Amino acid sequence: MTQDELKQAVARAARDYVADRLPVGAILGVGTGSTANFFIDQIATIKDRLGGTVASSEATAQRLAGHGIRVLDLNDVDAMGIYVDGADEIDAGMAMIKGGGGALTREKIVAAVADTFVCICDASKRVPVMGRFPLPVEVIPMSRAYVARELIRLGGKPVLREGVVTDNGNLILDVHGLSITDPAGLESRINEIVGVVTNGLFARRGADVLLLATPDGVQTFKR
Ligand code: A5P
Repeated sequence: MTQDELKQAVARAARDYVADRLPVGAILGVGTGSTANFFIDQIATIKDRLGGTVASSEATAQRLAGHGIRVLDLNDVDAMGIYVDGADEIDAGMAMIKGGGGALTREKIVAAVADTFVCICDASKRVPVMGRFPLPVEVIPMSRAYVARELIRLGGKPVLREGVVTDNGNLILDVHGLSITDPAGLESRINEIVGVVTNGLFARRGADVLLLATPDGVQTFKR
């Protein structure tokens, strides 16, 4: 199977997960990225059951709207049963690196509201120790150089993501060379640096359910 076929398989499994567990009329949070895009295409088939969706990026909002799926402002939503999103890496403790697509801050906000975070990815994303994928850090533009120096002090090699401005008008530093043995501790430590909006470690609020696409089928893991 190709990687796209694996992503499509897990997107279908996530659609079924949502159809089975989310009450009719409830709100669904929707992530960003190529796997999430396949998921959006799948939920077009159950859109009449959804009370609405909350998008984690402008790109996702546009794709949802293109399918005629209702997109709500998070501020108008009191509760969200499920949030479905991909990941760049996920470890055995269900901590993730996210933000390869640059949407980490909105993803983290929407995930914080959801009762259940369902991570969808192919088996290549599951790792024993995270850090091979560079850790994205969203920064206020005027703090870029200062934050980069602080990240070097933490042992990383930050690289500015050239030509990218986030949906929030900020910049992204991709931090190479980390071996992340304490994801929750590092998530908090980086967020303490003045000028950091958020970082792509999703450890304090990790995934609750992992749907993992393998050539032998989609496997389900729970925290
Ligand atoms: C978007 O900002 C990211 O967090 C994505 O969820 C993550 O990069 C996974 O993307 P793919 O599904 O494209 O691999």
